[in-house]
Amino acid sequence: MDYSEKVLDHFANPRNIGEISDADGVGTVGNPACGDMTTVYIRVKDGRITDIKFKTFGCAAAIATASMTTELALGKTLDEALAMSRNDVADALDGLPPVKMHCSNLAADALHAAIEEYLAKS
Ligand code: FES
Repeated sequence: MDYSEKVLDHFANPRNIGEISDADGVGTVGNPACGDMTTVYIRVKDGRITDIKFKTFGCAAAIATASMTTELALGKTLDEALAMSRNDVADALDGLPPVKMHCSNLAADALHAAIEEYLAKS
């Protein structure tokens, strides 16, 4: 299975890449399968994600899934974002090759970690 057009687009033109210097929540997750890492930064207002950025030391699938994760999470309530799974992200990208599904754990888990950090602080 090849990468979908959406994966190639999000890899070549990642959305919301970078960091938020005074983020309300930050989550960093490492992938035990390959050693790659992703960090997600969120800003929260009235229970919604109003800004989100990511950085990743990861493969093409990690970049594309992190980009799509930020697009999907922006504007969502914290509960809605916590309910997002790696399968939601992979589906939104029209699928990933089976051997790359583990890469989509990074962004979803880093998003959840950022929300949990925010909730622990507030
Ligand atoms: Fe490490 Fe894809 S191979 S995240």
